[in-house]
Amino acid sequence: MQIRIFSNENDLAAAAADIFETTIAAKPDAVLGLATGASPVLTYKELIKRYEAGKISFARVTTFNLDEYCDLPKNDKNSYYTFMQENLFSKIDIDPANVHIEDGNAADFDAEAKAYDAMIEAAGLIDLQLLGIGTNGHIGFNEPADAFSDGTFRVKLTESTIKANSRYFTDSVMPEYALTMGVGSIMRAKKILLIATGAAKAEAICNTVKGPVTPRCPASILQTHPDAILLMDEAAAALL
Ligand code: GLP
Repeated sequence: MQIRIFSNENDLAAAAADIFETTIAAKPDAVLGLATGASPVLTYKELIKRYEAGKISFARVTTFNLDEYCDLPKNDKNSYYTFMQENLFSKIDIDPANVHIEDGNAADFDAEAKAYDAMIEAAGLIDLQLLGIGTNGHIGFNEPADAFSDGTFRVKLTESTIKANSRYFTDSVMPEYALTMGVGSIMRAKKILLIATGAAKAEAICNTVKGPVTPRCPASILQTHPDAILLMDEAAAALL
């Protein structure tokens, strides 16, 4: 695991964007795994800037998002579909046909999960997977559990995640379930980039980096990935 600590969030976002730029320069049809939440927002802003400056093109890129809430209308302001449109996709030259996000309103969640995994495999697996981290160490929506998950599945969110994310649900009730790529799907990515900022992430980061590899802190499995990079600010790194 490579660890890089930054004293300001713009430098962190620039470093993350550099890794995207390098990946896409080497492979213009790269497969990117994307994340939602506050953590990647500045990185997406930086990628948009670089696209506008003609430094980077997403025209041949394929994307797979980590997760999506279940039973939340696709166009709800809190859906991850809406998040991705607003924070990235509507502002770059990506082909909408190459964008994939789990369908949280699928009639059959198991079938949707299997189809999602099959699409990732057919695309040749993920070249670069972006991750945030939950305060309980979750990645995607892989909550602390007795065993590491493998492929995409429907998960019941923990109380701590519901508490952490319900601040966004001012007009509606936060869903209790989500579809998420499994830990196995994430670990099959060739390169993984995790972003963590703020003191609220310090304990999760400490457990991820220094703790045992355990499904009780799902992000700890990144210790065993051959090419995982953790970008964090000083507050998130405070307990290291
Ligand atoms: C959410 C998402 C994760 C995200 C995490 C942290 O629940 N499912 O993919 O990484 O929580 O979110 P934030 O970056 O807003 O702190």
